[in-house]
This record gives sequence, C-alpha cells and structure tokens, in this order.
Amino acid sequence: MKVLITGGLGYIGSHTVVELSNNGFECIIIDNLSNSSIDVLGEIEKLCKKKIEFWSTDLRNKDELAQIFDTHKFHAVVHFAGLKSPGESVLEPLKYFDQNLGTTINLLKEMQRKNVKKLVFSSSATVYGDLTWPPVHEGAPTSILNPYGRTKLMIEEMLQDLSKSDSEWCIAILRYFNPIGAHPSGTIGEKPNGVPNNLMPYITQVASGEREHLNILGDDYSTHDGTGVRDYIHVMDLANGHLKALNYLNNHLGNHLFNLGTGRGYSVLDLVKTFEEVNSIKIPYQVMKRRPGDIAVSFADSSKAEKELGWKAERGLREMCKDSWRWEKNSSK
Ligand code: NAD
Ligand code: UD1
Repeated sequence: MKVLITGGLGYIGSHTVVELSNNGFECIIIDNLSNSSIDVLGEIEKLCKKKIEFWSTDLRNKDELAQIFDTHKFHAVVHFAGLKSPGESVLEPLKYFDQNLGTTINLLKEMQRKNVKKLVFSSSATVYGDLTWPPVHEGAPTSILNPYGRTKLMIEEMLQDLSKSDSEWCIAILRYFNPIGAHPSGTIGEKPNGVPNNLMPYITQVASGEREHLNILGDDYSTHDGTGVRDYIHVMDLANGHLKALNYLNNHLGNHLFNLGTGRGYSVLDLVKTFEEVNSIKIPYQVMKRRPGDIAVSFADSSKAEKELGWKAERGLREMCKDSWRWEKNSSK
C-alpha cells in the first residue's frame, strides 16, 4: 500500500518511514529540506534495505503537489511537514499560518480531488495549554499559548469539519508529548538548526562539548525537585504509533484523537541524572529563571491509544538517553 509522507526526512518522519516501510508499506516522501538534509534519505534507505521515492517539494507548490497525486494512487497520507518552534511563531505568526495552515489546506484539497481520504496528522500536547492538571486525556479542554499551538488546534478543527462534511474521511490526529531518542543504529535522529530549544538536544550538545553547560529553566515549580516535568517518549515508539494509526483507519471512519505519551512524567533533573548515569558523562548545568509560557507538569493519559490502537510505549528513559547520545556522537563526527 502506497503512503505519502510529508516531512518524511524530518526527525519523526524519518523514523516513521523506516517503521512503515519495514512493515510492508510503500512510502513516498515529500520534503522541502527546510529543516532536514538529503543525506537522511540514504540512511533511511539503508535501514529499509530499499529505494524510497523522494520529491523535493514544498507543500506550498500546488502544481507539484498535483503532479505527485497524479503520479500515484495513495492509500493514505501521513502529514508531518510544518514548522514547530513556539518561540519563533510568536515573532513570526504569519509564517506559521502560511506554512502550517496554508500547506495543510493544499494537501487536503489534493487528497479530496484524488479521493484519498485516510490521513494521520501530527498534532501536539501543546494544544492542552495550561488548563488541565495531568494526566491529560483527549477530552481535556484545549488552550492556546502561542501561534504554533494555534495552527495545530486550527488544523484539528479543520479536520473535524472535513469529516463532518464527508463521512468517507478516516482521520487520526496524534497528539505527541515530548519525543526524544533516536533509531538504535545511531544513523538517524534529531538535528536542530542552531541553538536547540528543546531539552534533550541541548543535553547531547553539552555532552559532546559543543555547548559549555545546560541552562535549567526554573527550579521553583511545584514538582518533586522544582524543575519542569514532561512525558518523554522514544521516537521509535512514536513511529510505531503511526503504523498502528494507519492500520486503525482501515476500518474506522471519522475523526479520532489520540494522545501518544508514556503516561510517566520526569523532571529536567531526572533526565539529566539518567543521561549522566547511562552514558557515564557529566552534564554541567546552571539554574536560570523560568522560560515564559512553560508549564510545570505535562504527562499523558494514553489509555485510549492503548485500548483502541493496541499501542503502548515500550521504551524507558534509560533507552531514550542512550539512543540520543549514540546519535549525537555519530552525527557530530
Ligand atoms: P522536523 O522539522 O524534524 O520535520 C518536519 C519536516 O518537514 C522537515 O524535514 C522539513 O524540512 C519539512 N517541511 C517543513 N515545511 C515544509 C513544507 N512547506 N513543505 C515540505 N516540507 C516541509 O519536525 P519533527 O520534530 O519531525 O515534527 C514533525 C511534526 O510533528 C511537525 O508537524 C511538528 O509540529 C509535530 N510535533 C513535533 C514535536 C517534537 O517535539 N518534535 C512535538 C509535537 C508535534
Ligand atoms: C516544547 C514546545 C511545545 C511542544 C513540546 C513537545 C517550547 C516552548 N515548547 O515544550 O510546544 O509541544 O516541546 O515537543 O519549545 N528546559 C530546560 N533547559 C533547556 C530547554 C528546556 O530546562 O535548555 C526545560 C523546560 O523548561 C521544560 C523541559 O525542559 O521543563 C522540556 O522542555 P522542552 O524540551 O523545550 O519541551 P516542552 O517545554 O514540553
């Protein structure tokens, strides 16, 4: 079965292509390389032991998108492509509306034109904002903290309207918690541009000597050690969630929301200590003030995904820390 993967050379997309391809799907990738490198394609092909068709296409290019849909009859689309920095989205909201909303509308129009009505969409735990004390389940109220989060929630709402207008659509919206880790081969992983915003890539860059120390952004939260608590999930478990979601859409019409998290929260210091222990590396840090917009605690209730998709995160924090470090060592050589 042919599946179109938008953003398939990115962090989560690349791991998902490997998972889907190794489970019998034929993946065709679109990526404009704005936040990825063409070298990732070769690494994916090695891990899948086959050639993967790649289109270096921007989803804003409607003509090329139409050409791709005219070339292939897709069974489904997995839509990762988009911009993902909350901080940048506050400074440049129009860029986010254009690149996240505009591109998704182009994609959905093409899908409708060619009668491709199965979609898995990358949403984020960010849509829960700061209203609910965890564990958060899919029915919890949503709130928006920045334009990035707004684009995710708007797309979710667009997808709900779409499936109300046409009952043939089968849509899985996956709300990811905090993906970290990398493929155990150490050949694909997350490669942020510039200074990392997120915790794990910052830690690995301190470990490699690229940065002097970690800044812990607040130690006065009401958590067990004062630092922020998150639900870190291994990207390989996340990739498997997409396989399960695609299979689910074969016999479920309509629009379905799923949290993908482990259900366990760890603090910044828990993560630092685990990383130090499993990799035998010291991570020097200093405590700074809180990052504006950050919440104290976030972790998922993923029981719906377990019950309906038959999916459960299997990898623990130690494995996440080992795999992140293996990838950093390989990629910074
Ligand atoms: P990523 O930046 O590594 O991957 C996105 C890919 O999409 C990149 O390869 C980029 O080049 C491509 N892309 C961006 N705009 C494009 C466009 N207009 N046309 C074609 N390709 C385009 O990001 P990721 O971490 O793999 O995230 C994938 C998705 O998951 C995103 O939608 C993101 O918002 C969502 N998400 C990510 C996280 C996270 O922490 N990584 C958490 C929650 C949700
Ligand atoms: C980030 C995104 C959020 C997205 C989520 C999942 C921001 C502001 N938010 O949030 O939209 O849904 O990832 O991908 O980027 N921390 C440090 N030092 C650092 C970096 C982070 O102490 O250098 C702390 C943070 O305060 C937080 C924890 O580490 O407590 C995790 O931070 P991060 O990896 O950025 O994830 P989120 O804050 O959950």
